[in-house]
Amino acid sequence: MTATKRLFLETVGCQMNVLDSELVVAALRRQGWDMTASVSEADAIFYNTCSVRQHAEDKIYSALGRVRFEKEKRPDLIIGVLGCMAQKDQEQIRARAPWVDLVVGPGQLHRVPGLVKLVQDGGGPQLEVSLDRKAGSRDAVAESFESYDPDRDPSMRPTPFQAFIRTQTGCDKFCAFCVVPRVRGPEQARPPEAIFAEARKLVGEGCREITLIGQTVNSYRWSDGGRTTRLADLLVGLDAIEGLDRIKFVTNYPRDMTDDLIAAVRDLPKVCHYLHVPAQHGSDDVLKRMKRGYTIGEYMEMYGRLREAIPHAAVTSDFIVGFCGETDAEFELTLDLVKTVGFKNSFIFKYSPRPGTKAFDRQPDDVPEAVKKERNRVLLDAQAEVSLVGNRRFIGSRQQVLVEGLSTRDEKRAIEPGPDGVAQLTGRTMCDRIVVFDAPLRLVGRLVDIDITAAGAWSLSGEVADGLADAVPLERLERPEPLVHQIDLPATPRGH
Ligand code: SAH
Ligand code: F3S
Repeated sequence: MTATKRLFLETVGCQMNVLDSELVVAALRRQGWDMTASVSEADAIFYNTCSVRQHAEDKIYSALGRVRFEKEKRPDLIIGVLGCMAQKDQEQIRARAPWVDLVVGPGQLHRVPGLVKLVQDGGGPQLEVSLDRKAGSRDAVAESFESYDPDRDPSMRPTPFQAFIRTQTGCDKFCAFCVVPRVRGPEQARPPEAIFAEARKLVGEGCREITLIGQTVNSYRWSDGGRTTRLADLLVGLDAIEGLDRIKFVTNYPRDMTDDLIAAVRDLPKVCHYLHVPAQHGSDDVLKRMKRGYTIGEYMEMYGRLREAIPHAAVTSDFIVGFCGETDAEFELTLDLVKTVGFKNSFIFKYSPRPGTKAFDRQPDDVPEAVKKERNRVLLDAQAEVSLVGNRRFIGSRQQVLVEGLSTRDEKRAIEPGPDGVAQLTGRTMCDRIVVFDAPLRLVGRLVDIDITAAGAWSLSGEVADGLADAVPLERLERPEPLVHQIDLPATPRGH
């Protein structure tokens, strides 16, 4: 019998990539592979990559530079580049790093086990990517992006009681700055039955929180005969699953925030009152140059409907600073928006020109890096102030928190408390606010009440309330090994 082969996998980027990694690992495990956290012990080193900003790509190219020597020492080592950068750069990856054996785009990940076998059998380097967006009819391109969601590997999830489910792949919005429609292909919805079946299976395995993910999750539409299913209908179906506690969904496109969806969020008890609806900018002119498809007036109309229906909802946004031609006056409009709207938090990015986007082809990247950096700082400071004011309102209140695990502080200390050892834990409220508190580790995976005693811009802290007996136990709690190395999460609500 041959010894078990070991895979080191590093994941960069968004939740889609975290989910993709879970699926690749599940498929390789079935072929007898195991995971390792050590590069020197690995028989294969894979990077699941992100192309949204240059910075994420640079990280991967430097990681590839580091593993070159490992490959020289051990020629049988398989080096793989998976995901969005593979789709975007294709042959260029091997031109820059000829020691790479596998280049596999996000629409071809189901082929990874077969391709690994080909490399092992001496078939040489393998490249599998989907068609470029202009390389054929929409249907032909769509068909070349396949998704294979049913295969899951719980050990790859950040926690065993939280899971992502994909509602659709790709994006058809083509915002001028964004490479996603190019690397993830046309928008394709999954059938509602597949989504419900996956949710029931996950809940059966002990999962308590499901986050639906799609590039524009609220654009979800599935037509079958005369019947159309929208995101609001998916939420109704998921809410009825016994054993599931919380439902979230990201990312929302402002124009598709319909009244029926807002009503579903308001009325369904398990759906979190947390909505990530990126505005991207505060100026109509810039939004136009970004080809976002709405004005600030329309965004505020949507925001008003949302606030009216769910006054305490936590709304978060993404912003890009230093987009092509952004003037001081235009930036001020973004700053005003952040100061007045009251987002729970905002993810702020410096514009990074991406080959293959409309902005890259037609609009010069003319805002100097130093100006981008300064605007980023100013906007982040403004958001921090707004977030702090928002969070302070919670001091003195009691919040139900889903306990997620050790706080970053105690994770860094790598403490190993006994079954009842008290540690600093972290969890989230129904509105996605991070709460830090001291409690026994056995509470991980449970819903507990926390009395909030202090607030910072990015988190609350508090104490476990009386009546711990009410905490709902999680059967089959396993602590996953930290094998998903996540860096540079772009639009995720996690991570602050
Ligand atoms: N709909 C996706 C968006 C993916 S990109 C989602 O699921 O969130 C995430 C965020 O990165 C975008 O909302 C945008 O704010 C930012 N972004 C995208 N392209 C960018 C670029 N070229 N430069 C800087 N930021 C970018
Ligand atoms: Fe789609 Fe990217 Fe715009 S994912 S909605 S093109 S920000």
